[in-house]
Amino acid sequence: MGQNEMWADTVIERIRGKMTWVSEKNRNKIPYRTDENGDYDDRSDPAKEWNVDDGINWWTNGFWGGIMWLLYQDTGDEKYMRIARLSEERMERCFHDYYGLHHDVGFMFMPTAAADYRLTGNPDSRRQALHATSLLAGRFNPVGRFLRAWNDEDYLYGRKSVPEGEEPGSGNAPLPESNKGWAIIDSMFNISLLYWASEETKDPRFRQMAMMHADTVMENFVRSDGSVCHIVEFDPETGRMVRSLGGQGYGEGSAWTRGQGWAVYGFMISYRHTGEQRYLETARRAARYCLQHIPENGIIPVDFAQPEEPAYEDSCGACVIAGGLLELSKCVPAPEGRIYEEAAVKILRTIADTRADFGQDCDAIVQNCSAAYHVPEHHITMSYADYFFIEAVYKLKGTGVFMW
Ligand code: GLY
Repeated sequence: MGQNEMWADTVIERIRGKMTWVSEKNRNKIPYRTDENGDYDDRSDPAKEWNVDDGINWWTNGFWGGIMWLLYQDTGDEKYMRIARLSEERMERCFHDYYGLHHDVGFMFMPTAAADYRLTGNPDSRRQALHATSLLAGRFNPVGRFLRAWNDEDYLYGRKSVPEGEEPGSGNAPLPESNKGWAIIDSMFNISLLYWASEETKDPRFRQMAMMHADTVMENFVRSDGSVCHIVEFDPETGRMVRSLGGQGYGEGSAWTRGQGWAVYGFMISYRHTGEQRYLETARRAARYCLQHIPENGIIPVDFAQPEEPAYEDSCGACVIAGGLLELSKCVPAPEGRIYEEAAVKILRTIADTRADFGQDCDAIVQNCSAAYHVPEHHITMSYADYFFIEAVYKLKGTGVFMW
């Protein structure tokens, strides 16, 4: 066994130890983040007054179930399957609350319903995942050949006026009317639902849409240096590109680190499903940009182009980048692959040694995450950081299902 695999083994032991009690304590929740006491919230709590898109339709709601499926396939312990299915049952409500659903159905239903179907063949899960796929396909703009992000009246975080000095789409401000032509880099993950559906039903149209979207993103989001923008606005009537926006990153022209991760890993997803070299090459370009900008100390900022101070970090972006680099490392010649693997290990070791809580004080493992650069709160926990950390460690070990 290689050194990296041995290291992964030791971390997996710690993940198992932590998730044993975290899963029991939160079995009836769908958590997003922890509070000041280290306790997880519950996005599936119907008694709480959520906005239309931040309760049961909250875009991260698939990651808790995803963590449970990762632990299930690792340990074989059926309690993880039972807890994952509680998420899935609750998420049936999303289809009833249709107005709050959005482009992120891939993030929501791939690690839950599709994972369940892949691992157990559960027919109800297949139905749920195909239903979500059809909703995603309905967001396709055929003239611009992209999947539209968000909806008209979904105000992020419930705010209805643009605060002075804030950019639309920054994660803290509402979306403007012009967002009918918006596409975002994150959707490179959501399209895995389309690939899965074509493989499952043998109907090629879902894969065709996924590839058209991937090509549009490749041509309009990825800059010549391999950095990517978060949001691109197209004219929804003509498909013409209008402008790019900084979105959750530092600003227009910058390199939001999580977006960089969505690009590396996202293009690898398209490569895995299609075998098209252009997607592998795009993942490579985005990865090389990361390699040139990962700081010496391995701590990943919110944006590779942000000022030195304040030194906002995003451990979640770090884990997404690590997962993408590990995927890439397996698909290129060995000497090049080792470079990507070592960069991923550096990031994961930094998280495990300095940004992880394996103790009893906090339900989440990964600390110091930031949802976006221009938001009031930084260095919080986020369930999808834990998901991508755990997934990456299994990937390094060479075990685990491919969820996307
Ligand atoms: N998909 C939104 C985010 O990465 O925060």
